Amino acid sequence: MVKALFPLTLKEASVKRRGKTLAGPIDLALNRDGITIVMGPNGAGKTTLLRMMHGIDRLSTGSVTWAVPDTVARAQQAFVFQTPVILRRTVLENLAYPLHLIGMAKKEAEKRALQACADIGLSGHEGLRATRLSGGEKQKLALARALIRNPQVLFLDEPCANLDGPSTREIEALLNQAKLRDTGIIMSTHSIGQAQRLANTVIFMHKGALVEHSPSSVFFETPQTPQATAFLKGDILE
Ligand SMILES: Nc1ncnc2c1ncn2[C@@H]1O[C@H](COP(=O)(O)OP(=O)(O)OP(=O)(O)O)[C@@H](O)[C@H]1O
Ligand SMILES: [Mg+2]
Repeated sequence: MVKALFPLTLKEASVKRRGKTLAGPIDLALNRDGITIVMGPNGAGKTTLLRMMHGIDRLSTGSVTWAVPDTVARAQQAFVFQTPVILRRTVLENLAYPLHLIGMAKKEAEKRALQACADIGLSGHEGLRATRLSGGEKQKLALARALIRNPQVLFLDEPCANLDGPSTREIEALLNQAKLRDTGIIMSTHSIGQAQRLANTVIFMHKGALVEHSPSSVFFETPQTPQATAFLKGDILE
């Protein structure tokens, strides 16, 4: 049994570049609670916060820690970027790649990759060069590849930003399935509707600061700050 990664603890964590604070200082304790949605206007620091949590942005102050050592935590996390990273290989090879990396036998990796391919509705496309897929299909492929090792934590940065309704629905279904398999999901979105459909917990960012961290029902029904209230009303935040 793999040791539980959560809680994730941020203490005075900040990222500064060229004298500018992109996010922080942030204090936050996050338990595994299904889907955590990060919201906030453009430039609020959502992407930076996700990257800090995943350990790919160097901290300028403070710390980000999991309940297990960093190397153990890292092996149990996956990150889906806003523009999906697709290998210039076939769809099947893209899916099998993370399994090869952890040393899984070729036959077993291929079996799992075939299943994952079917799960995202891409059966028949196994041998296609993945760079030929449509934007929505690439996003589903990136998500399936991130999930194929059953990570304890999955980060996603606006995975549905350029997708239409049906593709968004498919991605959301995959996320809900992963949640049922106990993957903790931390994801940014601009869509209030998507946040309402998916979130168990909401983090609201504004100007690099973490302004609100509440259960979804509290955030949407009785937001605690003027910034979140204005954002939910559709006002433009300065
Ligand atoms: N390397 C960098 N150097 C300087 N400023 C940066 C750098 N990277 C990001 N920023 C700035 O940091 C701020 C936070 O950026 P971030 O990408 O985290 O915001 P965001 O909430 O994800 O925005 P969006 O909704 O547009 O994706 C922005 O003002 C951005 O311009
Ligand atoms: Mg962003």
